[in-house]
Amino acid sequence: MQSLFNLDFEDAKAKHKKLVAEIAAHDKRYHDEDAPTISDAAYDTLRRDLEALEQEFPELVSADSPTQKIGATPSKGFSKVTHAQPMLSLGNAFSREDVTDFVERVQRFLNTDKPIEMIAEQKIDGLSCSLRYEKGVLVQAATRGDGTVGENITANIKTIADIPHTLPKGVPDIIEVRGEVYMTKADFEALNKKQEEAGDKVFANPRNAAAGSLRQLDASITASRPLHFFGYALGEMSAPIAQTQEGIRQALEQYGFKVPKPSALTTDVDALIAYYEDIGQKRATLSYDIDGIVYKVNDLALQVRLGQVARAPRWATAHKFAAEKAVTVVEAIEIQVGRTGALTPVAHLTPVNVGGVMVSRATLHNQDEIERKDIRQRDTVTIQRAGDVIPQVVEVDLKKRPSNSKPYVFPDVCPECGSEAIREEGEAVTRCVGGLICPAQAVERLKHFVSKSAFDIEGMGDKVVRQFYEDGWIKNPADIFTLKDNYAEELKEKEGWGELSVVNLFEAIEKKRQIGLDRFIYALGIRQVGQATAKRLAITYTSLINMITALQKAQDHDSPAYAELLNIEDIGPAVAEELIAFFHEAHNREVVQQLQTQLTIEDFINDIRDDTAVAGKIVVFTGTLETLSRSEAKAQAERLGAKVAGSVSAKTDYVVAGQDAGSKLKKAKELGVTILLEEEWKALIS
Ligand code: IVH
Repeated sequence: MQSLFNLDFEDAKAKHKKLVAEIAAHDKRYHDEDAPTISDAAYDTLRRDLEALEQEFPELVSADSPTQKIGATPSKGFSKVTHAQPMLSLGNAFSREDVTDFVERVQRFLNTDKPIEMIAEQKIDGLSCSLRYEKGVLVQAATRGDGTVGENITANIKTIADIPHTLPKGVPDIIEVRGEVYMTKADFEALNKKQEEAGDKVFANPRNAAAGSLRQLDASITASRPLHFFGYALGEMSAPIAQTQEGIRQALEQYGFKVPKPSALTTDVDALIAYYEDIGQKRATLSYDIDGIVYKVNDLALQVRLGQVARAPRWATAHKFAAEKAVTVVEAIEIQVGRTGALTPVAHLTPVNVGGVMVSRATLHNQDEIERKDIRQRDTVTIQRAGDVIPQVVEVDLKKRPSNSKPYVFPDVCPECGSEAIREEGEAVTRCVGGLICPAQAVERLKHFVSKSAFDIEGMGDKVVRQFYEDGWIKNPADIFTLKDNYAEELKEKEGWGELSVVNLFEAIEKKRQIGLDRFIYALGIRQVGQATAKRLAITYTSLINMITALQKAQDHDSPAYAELLNIEDIGPAVAEELIAFFHEAHNREVVQQLQTQLTIEDFINDIRDDTAVAGKIVVFTGTLETLSRSEAKAQAERLGAKVAGSVSAKTDYVVAGQDAGSKLKKAKELGVTILLEEEWKALIS
C-alpha cells in the first residue's frame, strides 16, 4: 500500500484515535441501533484509512481497534451463543486488479500455477445467521455477533417460512447452515410506509429493516415482518455432505433451502468479471438488495488447506459494487419535525436519475452531518443511493459553490411552532421543546394515535388528520371521540365528504371506544415506548389506574414503585424517566383523563394460568440456557403464570441459572433466593 498519510507519529496517533472513535460510533449505530448515518461506501473508506494507517504505524494497533474485531458485540436481551465454528467476514475487492490479486494469492498459497475453479454468487445484503440442526431438527439459530459469540434468535428464526424446521431423513447428526436473512425491496417499502403511518421508526434500507425485525425480543413482531433466507455456506458438520461449494448449494436445495441464483462456475478471471458485470446490470431489477459478488474456491478440500487470515477466509472474497451516484443541486434545506420533536434536515434536490430511480430529496441526518460535509443551499453535490434506499449526500463540489454562499445555520427554534429547539449534551438530535403546542408534533402524535398498531381508526389517514387539526376540530386525541357531537354538520358540508363517508367515519370511531390497555399505552406515543414495551407495561400493571398510580410513586427513585418499574424487562432508567415525565406533565394527564371519560380501556388479561407451580412467582433467568432461548423461556414462564423480572431482588422467588451466570446468580446467593438449574426448572413446570 502506498504511503497515504505522510504523518509523524504524534499526528498519526491522533488520527488513529479519531478514526477508531468514529468507526466505533458507526458500528454502534449500525449493529446495535440498526440506524446507520453513513453509507456502506463511506464506512468502507473509513475502515480502509484505518487499515492503511495501521499498516504504516503498526505500533498503533490496539486490542480495541475495529480492525481486530468482526461486526458487533452481542447486545443485551438475547442469550449468547458461542459459534461451534467462528462466523467469518469477507475480504473486499473493488477492481479487476483486486480480483486478479485474489486469485493469484490463492495459487501462491497452494503453490500451484494451475487454474483454480471458482464459484461466483450474489452477495446478499442482509444479515448473516447460523442455523444448527441436530438429528435433522432445527435446535438453534444465532446471529453472527462478533464472529465468535452471537445472539440466540431461535424463536425469531422459526417464524421465517423459507427456513425448514426439519431436514430430510439420513442427514448428518449435526449440520450448521449459514446464510443471509433479508427483506425484499417491495416489503421494505411497504413496512416503512406502515411504520411511518404509525409514527414508528423508519428504516434506512432493507438490510436494517431485516435486522430490526429479526432482533425483536418479542418473536410475534418478527413473525409479522416478511423475512426471507438464502443459504450459502456451512458451519460445524458431523459428516461431510458435499465435496464442493456447488455441491453445498445442491444439498441445501434438496434440504428445502433457497440459494441465490444464478451462480457461475469457472476457472477464468474474465468469466468472473463477466458474471459480476452481468449481475451488476440486473441489480436494479432483482427483488432484493445485493452489494456485490462473492467468489469462492469451489473445492472444499482446497478451502480447508487455504484456511483463514485474521477475520476472513483466504478462499473467498467479496467483489463490491460501486454505489450508484449522481450530481445535482441542493435547492433548499428544509427541517422536518417528527412526533417526538426531532428536527431532521432534508435536502430538496433538483430531481436527478440515480440508477433508474428519480431522486429529489436526500436525508442530511442531523447538524453534525451537515457541518462535517459543510453542505449549503445552492451547493452542487454528489448523491448516492447504495443499498441505502434513502439517498445521501456524499460530497460537495466546492468549485461550483456560489461566491456568496454561507454555511447553513442549524435552527435553534422550531420552524413549526417557534419554540426553542435544544440539543442535549452528547445527543446528535436537536429537539423542539414545544411538545403539545407544536403543530408538527401534534399532527404526528395524532397520526400515531389513529395508526394501525394503535387505535386503528379506518378512514383517518394522514390527510384527514392534518385537515381536522388545521380546522381546529381535533387538537388532541380525545377530540376524535367528540367529533360527531361537535362537527357532524360541518363535516357533511366539507369538500370531498358526503353523507356516507361521514357515517362511515363516525362508525369507525365508535368501534374503537373499547380498547386493550397495551394498545392504549402504545397509542399515547410516549417516547421510547413501542409496542413491545407497552405490552410489558400492560402485563405488569394490568390496569391504567394501577399504572398511573405506580408511575406517580416512581417519581421517588428510592420507592419500591421505581424499583418495580426498572425491573420490567427492557425498561432502563431512560425509558423509566420518559414514562414518569409523561404522566407528570399536566397537559398529558388532562388528555388521558378526557380519554378515560370517552373510552373503555380494558384491563390486560393474559391467557395466563393460575393453577401451576410457578403461578404468581417472580422468576429471573440468567446465563445461557441449553434447551431454550431466553425469549422462549420467558414466554413459557409467563404463560404458566410466573412474572419474569430482569433483576434479582428480595422479592424474587426463583433464579434459573444457565451457563456462565454472573452477577445475578451472585446476588441471588447473597439474598438467599432459591436457585434452580435448568433441569430443575423444567421439572418444576412440567
Ligand atoms: S460466503 C466467510 N456467500 O457477506 C464466510 N457470504 O460481508 C463465507 N454474504 O460474512 C461467506 N452473501 O455473511 C457468502 N453468497 C454469499 C453471501 C455472503 C452475503 C455475507 C456473509 C459474510 C458477509 C461479508
